[in-house]
Amino acid sequence: MNCLSFGRINVACMRMKAIVITSFGGPEVLKTEERTKPLINENEVLIRVKAAGLNRPDVFQRKGSYPPPPDAPQDIPGLEVAGLIEELGANVKQWKMNDRVCALVAGGGYAEYVKVEAGHCLPIPDGLSFFEAAALPETIFTVWNNVFQRGRLQANETLLVHGGSSGIGSTAIQLAKYFGAEVLVTVGSEEKGQYCLDLGADDFINYKTHDFEQELKEKQVDVVLDMIGGSYFQKNIEVLKPEGRLVYINAMEGNMVSLNIMQMMRKRLSIMGSTLRNRDVAFKTALTKDILEKVWPMFSKGKYTSCIFKVFPLEEAGKAHELMESSRHLGKIILEIPE
Ligand SMILES: NC(=O)c1ccc[n+]([C@@H]2O[C@H](COP(=O)([O-])OP(=O)(O)OC[C@H]3O[C@@H](n4cnc5c(N)ncnc54)[C@H](OP(=O)(O)O)[C@@H]3O)[C@@H](O)[C@H]2O)c1
Repeated sequence: MNCLSFGRINVACMRMKAIVITSFGGPEVLKTEERTKPLINENEVLIRVKAAGLNRPDVFQRKGSYPPPPDAPQDIPGLEVAGLIEELGANVKQWKMNDRVCALVAGGGYAEYVKVEAGHCLPIPDGLSFFEAAALPETIFTVWNNVFQRGRLQANETLLVHGGSSGIGSTAIQLAKYFGAEVLVTVGSEEKGQYCLDLGADDFINYKTHDFEQELKEKQVDVVLDMIGGSYFQKNIEVLKPEGRLVYINAMEGNMVSLNIMQMMRKRLSIMGSTLRNRDVAFKTALTKDILEKVWPMFSKGKYTSCIFKVFPLEEAGKAHELMESSRHLGKIILEIPE
């Protein structure tokens, strides 16, 4: 569309479609609305979004329990996108118009356009579609920071991932195998377990039929990536080896736990956790560089399996949320944003 008609700015060109959280509640509160296209600053780029990834934090935001940081769009969810660069800030040198990128955003991804720091974009690896690329940023950034930088997972160590078939779990399995670790997962069904084995996991424990603490108390593991919290806390402590690391990225079953400090001291455990979304620009820029250098080569070596479970049109974001909340999915759910 030509945005200059007879020397005047065509107002339609300044508008975009976006999915908006109209009030806190169920998937039905997600509605398509017209919004003003974001205006970029000198360090940002505007992306014409082709696909946006869903993440569980989007569901928590919709319900009102996960507020976005103050400088992020407050009512448009979406933490990761893939698309084409449509505008460049004056200081941006590393990208050009129409570059194919995927990016970590602090919100606003469920829209036709999103603005993002140039340093938080990554080139779409050769051979990957926009759908596949939109599935990468949030999980890779989270797993790289928590499992490798914080959890210090090493080759030949053993990683236990709870929620192995989740978006995060699918990425954790593939990255940990790529870097030479053994990977065990917990899942809620045999089908999900098989999915994790197909991605490279060494074994799975169906937590509905087996107690992971009983299964692993002899073997023990070096690092646990946990999003469950609650009753899993003490079990995690029991299955960790001396010098083990327990990393939290959520606590869906409960935040409040009690710790036997002496047990932690005797095993010399490290207990840690983080949230990605509220980290500052400099941190995310440094994380992006580290990922480009250390993780991106995985794609050119063909060591990555796409984890797309289902693609919904943008307008059906509510249905996509329903699927995520049902936990019937394996891997990632994606929204398609048509021309
Ligand atoms: N800290 C951060 O920066 C950060 C960033 C991104 C995501 N996260 C967190 O990481 C987690 C995964 O995110 P995602 O987008 O990958 O979500 P997802 O694909 O929806 O996966 C969540 C999985 O967790 C399992 N699950 C859900 N509730 C459970 C419960 N009460 N007990 C046991 N298992 C349960 C389900 O698998 P089963 O059917 O096998 O149980 C489900 O597939 C979320 O909790 C999210 O908030 C944190």
